[in-house]
Amino acid sequence: MSKAKIAINGYGTIGKRVADAVTAQDDMEIAGVVKTRPSFEAKLANDRKFDLYAASPDKIDSFNQAGLEVSGTLDDLLADVDLVVDCTPGGVGAAYKELYQKHGIKAIWQGGEDHEVAGFSFNSEANYSDAIGRDFTRVVSCNTTGLTRALYPLDQTFGIKKSRVTLMRRAADPGNIKSGPINAIIPNPISLPSHHGPDVNSILPHLKIATVAVKLSTTLMHFHALNVELDSDFEPQDIIDLYAARPRIRFVSGADKITSTAEVMELARDLGRSRSDMFENVIWKDSISKYQGELYFFQAIHQESDVVPENVDAIRAMCELESDGEKSIAMTNKTMGIGK
Ligand SMILES: NC(=O)c1ccc[n+]([C@@H]2O[C@H](COP(=O)([O-])OP(=O)(O)OC[C@H]3O[C@@H](n4cnc5c(N)ncnc54)[C@H](OP(=O)(O)O)[C@@H]3O)[C@@H](O)[C@H]2O)c1
Repeated sequence: MSKAKIAINGYGTIGKRVADAVTAQDDMEIAGVVKTRPSFEAKLANDRKFDLYAASPDKIDSFNQAGLEVSGTLDDLLADVDLVVDCTPGGVGAAYKELYQKHGIKAIWQGGEDHEVAGFSFNSEANYSDAIGRDFTRVVSCNTTGLTRALYPLDQTFGIKKSRVTLMRRAADPGNIKSGPINAIIPNPISLPSHHGPDVNSILPHLKIATVAVKLSTTLMHFHALNVELDSDFEPQDIIDLYAARPRIRFVSGADKITSTAEVMELARDLGRSRSDMFENVIWKDSISKYQGELYFFQAIHQESDVVPENVDAIRAMCELESDGEKSIAMTNKTMGIGK
């Protein structure tokens, strides 16, 4: 079977990770990556032997002046691929839709774009089969991916009457020097509830969920406090057993002295993960509680990486490389070292 040819438009935080994850698969390959500037990331793409393309013809000179060889423009790259993963900054990707359509190729956008751009929002466990053969898909944001991974199995097994989530968001990614707050907590948004609940509904439309969010002075991870009313009775051990069997959930515990997102990131480094990525939802096992009949727990979400395996699965479904979602998830997990 020939490999699906994949373009990455936007080689930043998400794009460079998706490029590496695609390269690790047997059934897909990177045809090229696209940059607007000859930054260190463009040099990294060259070092990693990815063919580099300029976003537009007027940018080619700047790459040449920096001593970087480009293979052409985005337009050239798209002429010879099956699918483009758009990893341009939020709000930029929608403008490329016409170009992708002109080339008659499939496209994946990220969570910074609206659901309407693709008309379909994706999570590997919740709706893999609905993505099979699709032309356009949006892989939802890091927070929505984390919430869907946690809530979908609960809903499947116990039924969810109502879920309430407080999202404590990292202010910026570690490599970003432009964003605050340095010393503040920002209600974000101030108007309640936040958009995260409706975003989960783009995958699970029937789910009752209310979310509020604040931004904190940290770059490491997002942190969620979940409170869920379930339809059926449960004990904390039932929830532990349920999550233990999920492919992209990792337990940590205070008993193991993992008491903060800093220690979770240290664990990711110790696991030898590339870029110290933590692709799984990290749930504190000892936070899983039943209080007044409702479920409570904490989870941390590594914003830079949890959507990366979902992108790989979305490619596999859209390009009809595998019809069984569980098999795709297992393949992606194995090649990316997830669950080890
Ligand atoms: N970072 C996260 O935490 C996170 C998590 C989940 C989802 N997402 C979503 O993923 C998407 C990408 O976010 P990101 O964090 O990876 O952004 P990023 O780190 O800023 O990377 C964006 C990349 O796009 C390139 N770019 C900028 N303008 C472009 C254009 N007009 N055409 C082509 N490339 C362009 C930039 O390259 P140059 O430097 O060459 O301009 C940069 O390499 C967004 O939708 C975001 O919401 C982000």
